[in-house]
Amino acid sequence: MKALKIIGIILGMVLLVIAAFAMYINVRGIPHYEAEDPGVTIAPDSTMAANGKRLVSMLCKDCHYNAATDKLTGRNMTDAAVAQFGTIYSQNITQDKDYGIGNWTDGQLLWLLRTGILRNGRYAPPYMPKLPNMSDYDVNSIIVYLRSNDHWVTPAAVADTQTVPSFLTKFLSAVVFKPLPYPTAPVAGPDTTNPVQLGKYIVTGMLDCYPCHSADFKTMNVAEPEKSEGFLGGGNLVGVNLDNKEMLSANITPDKETGIGSWTEEQFVQCIRYGQKPNGTQLSYPMMPLPQLTEKEAKAIYAYLMQVPPIKNKVVNPVP
Ligand code: HEC
Ligand code: HEC
Repeated sequence: MKALKIIGIILGMVLLVIAAFAMYINVRGIPHYEAEDPGVTIAPDSTMAANGKRLVSMLCKDCHYNAATDKLTGRNMTDAAVAQFGTIYSQNITQDKDYGIGNWTDGQLLWLLRTGILRNGRYAPPYMPKLPNMSDYDVNSIIVYLRSNDHWVTPAAVADTQTVPSFLTKFLSAVVFKPLPYPTAPVAGPDTTNPVQLGKYIVTGMLDCYPCHSADFKTMNVAEPEKSEGFLGGGNLVGVNLDNKEMLSANITPDKETGIGSWTEEQFVQCIRYGQKPNGTQLSYPMMPLPQLTEKEAKAIYAYLMQVPPIKNKVVNPVP
């Protein structure tokens, strides 16, 4: 009897500690860190601005673009995968000084994109991409573009609506995800003459294919993408299609039955650039065809994907 009582008391105490911890996380919210400004200024350059627009159109536009303003003024993100993270609004990233990022320095933007820490010190939750593996040239190009006179980014006085993170977001941001270290050495681009290297860079460093295509956003490994659980094996609930039906990411490992191991290079290039799958159907939202990719880049992605470890995982999505 006495032993049972002691076990009961210990259990009660453990539950209390857990409850107190959960309450603490809920009240404290997303953690804050030291936000630094590395003090770099990136010079305008028309080639970099064009490269930046290409990257932003593939990597940022889907979330930050607002059709009503035809600019990157942000929107309410109602996609299913984002809903579990709270009531999320992407923010105005035009050059407006009051509502946009017009008075952020280049260094503050770099700090956010590399480490995931906003200039006010708050951690940018899991849904905002972190780019620790992107080359300096490409990250700098994004910033040059955000400063350019392209219509998407010129100032628009559209006020932000603040995001209300869910408990899951607060918990993940406090316990699972930590800010990434700011690079201490230059981050070089891939050897573009080596298709596998170039493809690896696009999938894990430049375009963020792997968070959607691996098992779960909660178990992705941002610092070392290839160590993410179920790397590229699909099955992650990433959003809803245009009929509002939930969509799982596809298995894009070279498994012949459940992945894309039986696709030819030509079929893959057609699918990734223009959205036509080998079975005659179209790629469905939120997977966007990427006509911005060059033929060489699309082939490089294929070369890389064909040599990652195959995973057997059958993914079934609603038929369009
Ligand atoms: C999956 C959706 C998504 C994508 C993709 C995305 N963002 Fe964001 N971004 C957000 C959300 C949501 C916030 C607001 C985060 C918060 O306040 O908690 C945000 C915040 C920001 C901020 C901070 C703005 C401010 O005023 O606080 C900047 C700058 C930014 N994003 C730039 C980018 C750039 C550049 C890219 C492409 C490399 C990008 N984002 C891609 C969703 C996204
Ligand atoms: C926003 C999440 C998301 C991102 C980012 C993303 N994908 Fe997808 N992808 C999906 C979803 C969801 C599907 C399933 C779409 C369908 O069934 O039509 C898919 C389907 C595919 C397919 C078709 C596979 C098949 O068997 O039908 C290929 C190939 C693919 N993605 C490759 C990529 C590559 C390469 C990248 C990076 C350049 C990428 N995806 C980025 C979500 C994403």
